[in-house]
Amino acid sequence: MEFQQRVVVITGGAKGIGAATARTFAAKGALVAILDLDAQAGRFLAQELGQALFLPTDVTQSNAVQAAVDRVVSTFGGIHTLVNNAGVLFQRRLEETSDEDWDRVLAVNLKAAFLTSRAAIPVMRRIGSGVIINVASVHALRTLGQHAAYAASKGGLVSLTQSIALEYAPEHIRAVAILPGAVHTPMMEESLTRMAAQSLEDGLNAMGRRLPIGRVADPQEIANVIVFAASDEASFMTGSAISVDGGVASALPSLPKIG
Ligand SMILES: NC(=O)c1ccc[n+]([C@@H]2O[C@H](COP(=O)([O-])OP(=O)(O)OC[C@H]3O[C@@H](n4cnc5c(N)ncnc54)[C@H](O)[C@@H]3O)[C@@H](O)[C@H]2O)c1
Repeated sequence: MEFQQRVVVITGGAKGIGAATARTFAAKGALVAILDLDAQAGRFLAQELGQALFLPTDVTQSNAVQAAVDRVVSTFGGIHTLVNNAGVLFQRRLEETSDEDWDRVLAVNLKAAFLTSRAAIPVMRRIGSGVIINVASVHALRTLGQHAAYAASKGGLVSLTQSIALEYAPEHIRAVAILPGAVHTPMMEESLTRMAAQSLEDGLNAMGRRLPIGRVADPQEIANVIVFAASDEASFMTGSAISVDGGVASALPSLPKIG
């Protein structure tokens, strides 16, 4: 029970990667607080986990984030780990991206991590240490056309992680970015449903075949790395950007065979 009585806050923890992360921390003894917009899924998961709190929160709103952090502290007594996982995918041509689209994607994927970190760091300082994990994306390193807002938000999240790591290392607060590739979550299901005429299963298989590892990830495979990065075993890891992407960020585009 590695995380016994440690308090872990997970944004976007009601579904997908966040939910797998919440379950994994809870299985290791953590007290988990889930901040999410999806009240139904969030309440259901908190009940399943037992020693967990669900707080319906829009993490782009400064006051709501501060209120949620205060509530976690009054309920569980502190915050040891913050996982900034809430995110939205956005795929559209740059010229068709409105001001509102840009602001929404940057708010959920980047500003929210600033707001939660700003609220949680004083709590971690009182405890004497802490870990902030930011769930970015392979799009921070290698992206595609029609991903300007998403890629920029995730690239920004990696830079934010580095700056937090440098600023708070003297106070024993670590910050790590995790960069997943394609993961089978509600986000991916929505994206495949929008894009493809084929069945979800065919869409997942087709996407998997395009990856070096030959398949998309299960959310648990990302959660395992998040939990490791948050653990004491990763005590020398800070400012890092860890790819968990089945080889995507290493790959050249397919080129004609030589010879
Ligand atoms: N699924 C993938 O292939 C993939 C790949 C790389 C990175 N990621 C990143 O991983 C993270 C989790 O992705 P996922 O696939 O599990 O997504 P998901 O859509 O399945 O779940 C995201 C959760 O975030 C919540 N959320 C969204 N906006 C919010 C807000 N303003 N306030 C509070 N909660 C909010 C949603 O309600 C949902 O429960 C995201 O940051 C995403 O960008 C996902």
